[in-house]
Amino acid sequence: MRVRRMDVADIPAVLAIERASFADPWTEALLRDELGRDDRVWLVAADAGRVVGFGGVMVVGADAHLMDLAVTPEERARGTGRTILWSLAEAAVKMGAERMTLEVAPSNTEALGLYRSSGFDIAGRRRGYYPKTGEDALVMWSRPLAPHVAAMRAAREGSDIILAIESSCDETAASVMRGGREGLADVVASQVDFHARFGGVVPEIASRKHTEAIVEVVERALESAHITLADCDALAVTIGPGLVGALVVGLAYAKGLSAATGLPLIGVNHLEGHLYAARLSDPGLEPPLVALLVSGGHTMLVHVPEWGRYRVLGGTLDDAAGEAFDKVAKLLGLGYPGGPAISRLAAEGDPHAIAFPRPMLRSDDLNVSLSGLKTAVIHYVERERREGRPLRLPDIAASFQAAVTDVEIAKTLRAAQEYGAHAVVLGGGVAANPALRGGLRSALSAVGIELNVPPLELCTDNAAMIAAAAHDSLAVGRFLGLDADAAPDLALRGNRCACGDRQEI
Ligand code: KG4
Ligand code: ZN
Repeated sequence: MRVRRMDVADIPAVLAIERASFADPWTEALLRDELGRDDRVWLVAADAGRVVGFGGVMVVGADAHLMDLAVTPEERARGTGRTILWSLAEAAVKMGAERMTLEVAPSNTEALGLYRSSGFDIAGRRRGYYPKTGEDALVMWSRPLAPHVAAMRAAREGSDIILAIESSCDETAASVMRGGREGLADVVASQVDFHARFGGVVPEIASRKHTEAIVEVVERALESAHITLADCDALAVTIGPGLVGALVVGLAYAKGLSAATGLPLIGVNHLEGHLYAARLSDPGLEPPLVALLVSGGHTMLVHVPEWGRYRVLGGTLDDAAGEAFDKVAKLLGLGYPGGPAISRLAAEGDPHAIAFPRPMLRSDDLNVSLSGLKTAVIHYVERERREGRPLRLPDIAASFQAAVTDVEIAKTLRAAQEYGAHAVVLGGGVAANPALRGGLRSALSAVGIELNVPPLELCTDNAAMIAAAAHDSLAVGRFLGLDADAAPDLALRGNRCACGDRQEI
């Protein structure tokens, strides 16, 4: 697909797309007139010579006004509209434009989604704007165009510098990265000690600690990268999923920085970040991949047919893997977080000592359920206590751990084989568990599939993985507007296709 200037010869193809897209299509006479004016830019996207989309912009002083933009029905959700939009913006910047405005019908949800995810904010509403339908128009305006256009260019050349912020749970993190792969700084302030005495993450404490830490964490990241905000091309921030009160601290701070500097702002799905951690540790890693993401907050199997496209294959029906470790550790009086304590004890125990259930091991899907296993441990401990037998903690830890890892390994192996994965990626804090890493590695190597486990500091929550994911968004022009909200339940769904667009966030 190539974007080029519209020519008079393109008019019939353009009008066909126009008529298929709008109730009030432009006429041939109007379009011919437009092409003759020098304060306009009209572009077409052509695929193997065929026009698949077009757009036009009018530039008056510092203002660019988007007059029209449409793609063929087959071309929707493939990134073509976004490519045309940013090509128009680039041309408008060359003519002196600083901002772009546009009108869009609220019922045109695809277009609205494109503009919103390109960083446009809603500025107002024009009543009865569309003459044929009488529908209102939403008036939207862009963020400052020049820094966005420049940052996108830098990303495509691999020289972009992104400052990323992560605050979805209990780590306040900031990272500076060049070209989506070269880490220049990585700062993580963990709050785990503050939550430990409550036996788990307390959301209110998390928000407060993020507020206290964020300024210093960001400053330290810039300092250790030996740069200032003026050297950055873009800002990135986790917008979900996570604790809402924790997410808003990072998001509000990033929005503030963006408003003050004019730097583009990119929103990142936290889970997508965990997937990109694998690309940071192995830059040559190429899809198709299957990823097992296991942490205190998430447990899921994801198919990654290409970077930016994801399908969640299964997950936990109840407790996350780390949560199960933490709850069992609490029951055994081992403190918080429980995973490390259990795996240390398990190293001295017998994994076959107690036959805990393997819930859903043979179920016909890729889901897991861990709360029944936790209940089985509770019942076991109660019975042993009742009958006056001393608890053999290493054996309980090893047997519980074996039950969790057996199920996770079996489901992951199955997913990897079903989806023809070249490699399996293990991510999230539970990836620290030696039995899970070892067991998964040997199960996969038996069928010739590689296991990628990023170093632990990339498996646990960090901002480097957010910067890595943001780089790919930047290259295609996916931005956040300043009216964006945190999305605590944000799903991981990706439909980015080969030409570069990605999921709605
Ligand atoms: O990714 P993470 O640092 O934070 C989020 O939950 O997002 O993961 C922390 C979780 C905790 O539940 C912790 O108990 C678990 O990872 N974990 C472990 C181990 N180390 C940490 N679980 C099992 N075995 C471990 N060695
Ligand atoms: Zn996480």
